[in-house]
Amino acid sequence: MTAPERTLDLVVTARREEAEGVVSLTLARPDGGPLPDWTPGAHLDLLLGDGLERQYSLCGDPAEGAAWTVAVLREPGGRGGSVRVHDALRPGTGVRVRGPRNHFALLPAPQYLFVAGGVGITPLVPMLAAAEAAGADWTLLYVGRSRATMAFAGELAERYGPRVLLRPRDEHGRPDLAAHLDALGERAEVYCCGPRPLLEAVEQHCERTGRPPARVERFQPREAAAAGADRPFTLVLARSGLTLTVPADASVLQTLRGAGVDVLYSCEQGTCGTCETDVLEGRPEHRDSLLTEAERAESASMMVCVSRCLGERLVLDL
Ligand code: FES
Repeated sequence: MTAPERTLDLVVTARREEAEGVVSLTLARPDGGPLPDWTPGAHLDLLLGDGLERQYSLCGDPAEGAAWTVAVLREPGGRGGSVRVHDALRPGTGVRVRGPRNHFALLPAPQYLFVAGGVGITPLVPMLAAAEAAGADWTLLYVGRSRATMAFAGELAERYGPRVLLRPRDEHGRPDLAAHLDALGERAEVYCCGPRPLLEAVEQHCERTGRPPARVERFQPREAAAAGADRPFTLVLARSGLTLTVPADASVLQTLRGAGVDVLYSCEQGTCGTCETDVLEGRPEHRDSLLTEAERAESASMMVCVSRCLGERLVLDL
């Protein structure tokens, strides 16, 4: 599932306040020409200068071929990306983007539960339209601190009526996730995006009750399991014929870059998928927050920014 990568120089054509602290930006080619196709759940890397890159989900309509929309929550205590977006990107500003890339694709199903926390609504917006167009039975459970902080809440409620359950915490308290999950049919799919505690609550309930795992989109890494000390291992690059040693105190990505091997990367936290690399031999120790259990078991690829090796040797398709 190695994704196609492309970089485009776009321009901001519109900026809207969607909720307290959330702005949406519409991006287009300077000549108004068509943009590459994308599917619900896809995200873009915004390349913000000085090496700052951030991933944002596309939240517009995939049929709108000449414009992309992202929505960004200003996080003053964050690592600087969202503040740069809010302060620097205005109508007329140029911005370089990479992608789109989709690690959160909507699979066909007769029934869906979409669970959004705060700005985690963004990848779900186009999914709701797709589920509706497919005639699926779906519900959106949308939680947030207060109504004023919940982007797109009003327009979603207006467009879809009772399928949209808005649950601002200051009015409703904590949502009863278990009741919503337990009411689903066996073939239902659960899609969830939001803060880590919400994702973990959904995942843990699915696991406890034997439901198939929920599909989640993370922009923060999973809580890392306590691991022993990292060990060195051998890395063989099949296409370039190089053999390298990954030391205990460096990542595969750092080792590759140190050897002058060109690998695309962005988040360096195992959440964006940019550095996904095909594995030809050996057993990766997956530490990313993207691959499903089935993909981990298959180990056809790994995120070289965080994942290591369970044995002595890995062979990569590089
Ligand atoms: S750089 Fe983002 S997953 Fe590796």
